[in-house]
Amino acid sequence: MTLSAAPAPVTVLSAALLAYSDRAEIQLSRFLPADDQAPIELHRAMRYAVLGGGKRLRPLLVYASGRAFGAELDQLDAAAAAVEIIHAYSLVHDDLPAMDNDELRRGRPTCHIAFGEAMAILAGDALQALAFELLAADTALRADPTTRIAMLRELGAACGSHGMAGGQALDLAAVGKRLDARELERMHAHKTGALIRAAVRLGALAAGCRTSAELEKLEHYGHCIGLAFQIRDDILDIEGDSELIGKTAGKDAANDKPTYPAIHGLEESRRLLAVLTDEAVASVATLDRPVAELIEIARFVADRQA
Ligand code: IPE
Ligand code: IPE
Ligand code: MG
Ligand code: MG
Ligand code: MG
Repeated sequence: MTLSAAPAPVTVLSAALLAYSDRAEIQLSRFLPADDQAPIELHRAMRYAVLGGGKRLRPLLVYASGRAFGAELDQLDAAAAAVEIIHAYSLVHDDLPAMDNDELRRGRPTCHIAFGEAMAILAGDALQALAFELLAADTALRADPTTRIAMLRELGAACGSHGMAGGQALDLAAVGKRLDARELERMHAHKTGALIRAAVRLGALAAGCRTSAELEKLEHYGHCIGLAFQIRDDILDIEGDSELIGKTAGKDAANDKPTYPAIHGLEESRRLLAVLTDEAVASVATLDRPVAELIEIARFVADRQA
């Protein structure tokens, strides 16, 4: 009798993926304005919000998906940095007193605690603009104008009112209300899923992928891990250690947020997380491409401890 063992939990990334996150760190630092350039305080706040922390999951996805479709790493740097810069801006605004009112992020004071609310709002604004600027201007991307526009459009759609910002609006409107399962899924798929989906697709677009069947499989993978990522985030808010997650645990319940554990319970949330992970893996496994890194990222999303 053969027993099929469950895969070992992926809580630490392989050397190949860690190399992508190191690369992202260097590229982010290069793309961000220097903090000895005026306006110095704004540039300091922007660099503070982006550098020195974070798992760099979205850049990992850009690199892994771009490499699976044959892109060179330097062609992927602008897209990897752009999605991470949008993500960092979304965290700065998410932490503001008018939103989640958080004081700890990536193990440090949040941007508005360190620089004041007005500067944090401006840093978020400027980061958002920078992401589009570098996607439009980076020469190493070596994309034709049609591809570049497709990539700009992908990022715009993912962070606008039909994407991340829309999801954040659903999140705020839902405080203190009981969402049903569909409404909750919709909120998570927008506030977190949209940018993660875009990261996966941007890598393939930068690599010149135009095959809709392949892009659809990637889209489904991105949808599943995007949702899984926020479910894990909700679980970590309950079970995680503030020291390890680098943010104050227990804030969702304190803010009366609709989360997967709040609506479905912890056990069912864990089951849904596993189902989504398997579905994500199955979706890319049928691509005739080297997708081992995308599979590793899906497992990491489900198992991560921070
Ligand atoms: C936190 O994202 C916010 C969510 C979208 C759930 P991450 O867990 O990716 O945060 P960092 O970038 O690693 O700090
Ligand atoms: C944040 O969701 C989603 C975005 C920033 C778009 P959360 O509010 O759950 O993220 P954390 O827990 O503060 O990182
Ligand atoms: Mg929030
Ligand atoms: Mg928050
Ligand atoms: Mg959270």
